[in-house]
Amino acid sequence: MRGARARLAVLVSGRGTNLQAILDATRAPEYPAEVVVVVSDRPGAYALERARQAGVPAYVVPWRRDPADFGRRLAEVLDAHQAQWVCLAGFLRILPPEFVQRYRGRILNIHPSLLPAFGGRGMYGERVHQAVLASGAVESGCTVHFVTEDVDAGPVVAQARVPVLPDDTVETLAARVAEQEHRLYPEAIRRVVTGQVRFDDLVAAEQLAR
Ligand code: GAR
Repeated sequence: MRGARARLAVLVSGRGTNLQAILDATRAPEYPAEVVVVVSDRPGAYALERARQAGVPAYVVPWRRDPADFGRRLAEVLDAHQAQWVCLAGFLRILPPEFVQRYRGRILNIHPSLLPAFGGRGMYGERVHQAVLASGAVESGCTVHFVTEDVDAGPVVAQARVPVLPDDTVETLAARVAEQEHRLYPEAIRRVVTGQVRFDDLVAAEQLAR
């Protein structure tokens, strides 16, 4: 008999193409995870519609002035659905430290650059591609990493590279990176939930390398 699938919560703020890639991957019976709940901080996020179309419960938890309060409400929703892992998929808020500690080693994020390059506070979405183009870099890509209290600085699970072409615009570069994101994220989730990649091992390896 096949073992139980890992229970994913996916947090979103926008159009949700990465959520869609994860939902599509979970349709394969051999995929080791399922999406049990989707939460957006924004009521208008199209990602909510994608969740509903897939038959996955979708909630709005509005952002709060007190981030710790947001974190508590979010955890209540996740607990109610017995989520084991939290996947940020275009979720543009910085999670409060209490929430990150509570789910330590169980939160993943996807970022549209080759971290540590072009990461950190204020670096999200199109801004990342703008900065890449302005820098003259000849290569970009995307990164799936574990979330820690330091923004975009948690241990890297997987990366994919793309060329930056001389006539690229933000739109063409974003589309090339997004294509890789949609392939990379479901694969990175698979590696993490099956224990092929472990948070504690990556932290230990980083400490050794210092
Ligand atoms: C993706 O490119 C993701 O890497 C980026 O937002 C986009 C969301 O697209 N995330 C960040 O910039 C996080 N710092 P989507 O809503 O279509 O998945």
